[in-house]
Amino acid sequence: MVNQYIRSENVMRTKKITLPESEMPRQWYNIMADMPTPMEPPLHPGTGEPAGADDLSPIFPMGLIEQDMSQERWIDIPEEVLEKYAIWRPTPLYRAYSLEKFLDTPAKIYYKNEGVSPAGSHKPNTAIPQAYYNKLAGTKKIITETGAGQWGSALAMACTFFGLECKVYMVKISYNQKPYRRLMMETWGAQCIASPSTETNAGRTILEQNPESPGSLGIAISEAIEEAVNTEGAKYSLGSVLNHVMIHQTINGLETQKQMAIAGDYPDVVIGCAGGGSNFAGNCTPFVRDKIHGKEIDIIGVEPSSCPTLTKGPFAYDFGDTVQMTPLLPMYTLGHNFVPAPIHAGGLRYHGMAPIISQLLLDKLIRAESVHQMETFQAGITFARTEGFISAPECNHAIAMAIREALKAKEEGKEKVILFNWSGHGLVDMAAYQAYFQGDLSDYPLPKEEIKRALEDIASLPKPKQYQPGRFE
Ligand SMILES: Cc1ncc(COP(=O)(O)O)c(C=O)c1O
Repeated sequence: MVNQYIRSENVMRTKKITLPESEMPRQWYNIMADMPTPMEPPLHPGTGEPAGADDLSPIFPMGLIEQDMSQERWIDIPEEVLEKYAIWRPTPLYRAYSLEKFLDTPAKIYYKNEGVSPAGSHKPNTAIPQAYYNKLAGTKKIITETGAGQWGSALAMACTFFGLECKVYMVKISYNQKPYRRLMMETWGAQCIASPSTETNAGRTILEQNPESPGSLGIAISEAIEEAVNTEGAKYSLGSVLNHVMIHQTINGLETQKQMAIAGDYPDVVIGCAGGGSNFAGNCTPFVRDKIHGKEIDIIGVEPSSCPTLTKGPFAYDFGDTVQMTPLLPMYTLGHNFVPAPIHAGGLRYHGMAPIISQLLLDKLIRAESVHQMETFQAGITFARTEGFISAPECNHAIAMAIREALKAKEEGKEKVILFNWSGHGLVDMAAYQAYFQGDLSDYPLPKEEIKRALEDIASLPKPKQYQPGRFE
């Protein structure tokens, strides 16, 4: 009897690969140490000259600025940050047996579940260290923006852990679509305001031009920076795009590499959705490092067809915000005045892209694809009905691409290993699913005239050496 029991347990397939806390990485990985082409520098918004640490110090603490400019390959994670990470990390890696069976594919599909954090996404991976380095520098209050509310809620939690005040400008369309996100922020002690608001000059100007503005991340960033630089003891914080954010998120990819080794597999394809680029960078850059050293991997960033920054935008210098307060960043962009259609993947409605991701795309170490909204929801529902988890609308973009790749593997008869980053759960996004079930959602094809118009606003800005025109003809 006993033997039989053991035997049956031994043949059970491993569904999730977990790591003990003792195996949690103690260092973040910085791909800037390994990139074949160094990134061009950010430029000061006023002078157009390369921006240095002093230019950034009014808005960020020095600990983060140093990481942003670091060429160190490995950066130690402070003990206080590891302690907080341990609340939910290491996160499990799953083998999607049921999805594979449903798709009848020879591909093996793995997904890394970042939705198990208290805020429900990958965003606390950077919120915790950002709050920590601010606390260390004597900051009293952090002001930020949020799209879908995942970042705002993650930072609200991190600030409460380190005894900091937190204020969040939330893009108005998402503020209305996702009321429970605001309540999560309030539960963690933060203040949440719909943007554009009347609290800042930036918000008032936008509202004068368009009282019905649904808001955008670019506008909300302008509001948050304006208030941060004008408030004693306050700093600004960004949940994506910047180098230090990409570095913090690598805790994910480093764990994934250990877990894939335990599973005895190595990915042929690595997929992540890309808004500002942080969950994608976090999961993929340790694999990009392997690719630089000779591994063959197809690494795909997935974005909405209605906001096709990587697939259609030029590689140019542009502002990170609408009111032109941030440094000019070398990145793929649709122009800082571009206001994306009101899709439910609020976290992917951003005009720009992380300079690190942009440079990796320029160097063809990664590639980009875009997916329409309806396909992403169909994919999310297929995932929920096979694997169980209900995904954030952003994350549905990664699932849609994983399904495309698994079906391609079926057509080609190849047993590919596909890995995607499941960046967050959608339990606070059920209104989006309701809209889908009621037939109220649609695709938003983006007319090229609209992109062209938005790009006119960056035509006169300095051009990076590696400038590339847009691809919307
Ligand atoms: C669940 C989830 N995935 C992905 C994103 C996209 O952001 P990023 O590209 O920085 O990972 C967001 C942003 O809010 C998000 O909430």
